[in-house]
Amino acid sequence: MQVQGTHYRTVWMDGNTVKMINQLLLPHKFEIIELPTHLHTAKAIKDMVVRGAGAIGASAGFAMAQAFIEAEKEIKEYVDAARKHIEMTRPTAQNLFYATKRVYDAAINSENPKNIALNEAQKIADEDVSNCKKIGEHGNKLIKDGFKIETHCNAGWLAFVDWGSALAPVYCAKQKGKKVFVYVDETRPRCQGAMLTSWELLNEGIEHRIIPDNAGAHYMSQGIDMMIVGADRIAANGDTANKIGTFEKAVVAKEFGIPFYVAAPTTTFDPECRTGKDIPIECRCEDEVLYATGLSDTTGKISRVRIAPKGARALNPAFDVTPAKYITGIITEKGIIKPDSNEIKRLFNE
Ligand code: MRU
Repeated sequence: MQVQGTHYRTVWMDGNTVKMINQLLLPHKFEIIELPTHLHTAKAIKDMVVRGAGAIGASAGFAMAQAFIEAEKEIKEYVDAARKHIEMTRPTAQNLFYATKRVYDAAINSENPKNIALNEAQKIADEDVSNCKKIGEHGNKLIKDGFKIETHCNAGWLAFVDWGSALAPVYCAKQKGKKVFVYVDETRPRCQGAMLTSWELLNEGIEHRIIPDNAGAHYMSQGIDMMIVGADRIAANGDTANKIGTFEKAVVAKEFGIPFYVAAPTTTFDPECRTGKDIPIECRCEDEVLYATGLSDTTGKISRVRIAPKGARALNPAFDVTPAKYITGIITEKGIIKPDSNEIKRLFNE
């Protein structure tokens, strides 16, 4: 995708160094961060310098490749420990575990593990791009000229290597000359909607408005044509974990008969999770709720301010699970499927 006329991926590898857009500074500052070792890359995932299922997955794949490159004598011992370390960074996004496993399995018993690991990690990143582009093409077929679409959190190109999942159909529709308006849920507490989705849509020249998280039902009651969200992990029965607040939107969408679509590549499906109850939900630190972070008008610096009274406590689950019965369809790179176990099984047996 374009940033002021230059094409960028969210994360890429340059030699043995991982490079990524520092999402902690967006939308106020555009900066590329360089991560020379797997420990640096793992920390960037943990600290949410990079976030979103696909981007986390590609970064984790690159981190795993860095570990193979770094390993000297006791290769297995070193990369096993590295894999454990990378997998501890964030628990919910399935793409992370998909990528570490895929790079590890490809390289561990090979003759040339460093090259194989690097190639495999690169393949994961490239496939992420082509999968998301296909999601865009399939999803575009659902969008009519003049559609009003609501989205939650950021499942745009910043959440993947390029294109995105939930926003890919919007970008594709725009390229086909359709006019689309997007309601962007601000997505407290990290405000991925207000900070990242809005920034992407501005870059792409797509008309949108940021709405408070609690304004969804109000606008749906006035007429929204469809809702598209991303996914962090999809269970075998179609239950879908996505950013906290998604479940509530899906329930309200059903009340108003608004089609509710999940967009995700097959790398986000986890057949090991039978239902949404098996998906681990990340709980993050209380401060994300008790404080707000943004650009200060007075100092011109990114800073945080306390919202809640001193001594107040908070709960901060990062994701929730939308039961399959609220989901109209899942837009994947292989086509649009119903969220049920038979269709999901068929997706993997093709
Ligand atoms: O906590 P984050 O920012 O890594 O959350 C992930 C997300 O961006 C959302 O849940 C998104 O809607 C799905 S990930 C493509």
